[in-house]
Amino acid sequence: MSSVDKSGTYKLGDRSVNRLGYGAMQLAGKGVFGPPKDHDAAAAVLREAVANGVNHIDTSDYYGPYVTNKLIREALAPYPDDLTIVTKIGARRGEDASWLPAFTADELEQAVHDNLRNLGLEVIDVVNLRIMFGVHGPAEGSIEPQVTKLAELQRRGLVRHVGLSNVTRAQIAEGRKICKIVCVQNQYNLAHRGDDALIDELARDGIAYVPFFPLGGFNPLQSSTLSGVAERLGATPMQVALAWLLQRSPNILLIPGTSSVGHLRENLAAAELKLSSDVLRELDGVAKAA
Ligand SMILES: NC(=O)c1ccc[n+]([C@@H]2O[C@H](COP(=O)([O-])OP(=O)(O)OC[C@H]3O[C@@H](n4cnc5c(N)ncnc54)[C@H](OP(=O)(O)O)[C@@H]3O)[C@@H](O)[C@H]2O)c1
Repeated sequence: MSSVDKSGTYKLGDRSVNRLGYGAMQLAGKGVFGPPKDHDAAAAVLREAVANGVNHIDTSDYYGPYVTNKLIREALAPYPDDLTIVTKIGARRGEDASWLPAFTADELEQAVHDNLRNLGLEVIDVVNLRIMFGVHGPAEGSIEPQVTKLAELQRRGLVRHVGLSNVTRAQIAEGRKICKIVCVQNQYNLAHRGDDALIDELARDGIAYVPFFPLGGFNPLQSSTLSGVAERLGATPMQVALAWLLQRSPNILLIPGTSSVGHLRENLAAAELKLSSDVLRELDGVAKAA
């Protein structure tokens, strides 16, 4: 049994995935723009992830743009049957590397076709609609036309399951009236816990919650409490942060990102780490201090 198997499994629609997966964003160049610094090293991270039991990879065509999807295809196709690739649409990159909305029906249709081509797939397991009303966090506004378009692409057989990203509770409710939503991908980690109540609500309804920036994102988490716990347990702070997420709720699926095989192995080993209730209580203090 690989350590990833010890993270348990959860459903993304009709797909079952290990709860510890991998997010491919860090494989593109600096600022998630352009090619990786070391192409072979980036491909090696993907192969190592799958070799270690990862069967859930998160990506998007706007990483690069088009860089991570092409890398995934090159490194991993033909894909193992149990691999679930989740992509995102709803944004595009400006020439200056900016993140811009791409939210019209035509742009959404084009994005699904681009993802299919670049990943070398006939159907995409899960497509998350990434809401861009606020680039850095959820902002209210109707997403009815966009979810309706995605539901149409699902009916046409191009998309197996639909998810939402960077969304408010009201937007999730609006989306669920149009089609089945299998996952929500919002920012959440030990220090950033705005979705605490939402996670519990989604768990009750059997919807996966996939935190982005599980390690803090571009500025990985730093906390003396976290470091102290890690030292006592003989683990690293990043492993403790991931183990905490795994124990936080059974519907949480992890997609930590890294461009390094060493960090990847370290992160996947977090599935072996069990935190006591005393340690969990202590770690609650990290969010209060943040
Ligand atoms: N829906 C959205 O809007 C959205 C937004 C952002 C991200 N995402 C998805 O979420 C995934 C995860 O987010 P993320 O990669 O941005 O952030 P993250 O997983 O929180 O952290 C990644 C950062 O942590 C570093 N890191 C990883 N493992 C480490 C370790 N063991 N020790 C020390 N540093 C470590 C990485 O650097 P190294 O490369 O040096 O390891 C990188 O700087 C992405 O890959 C992407 O698929 C989605």
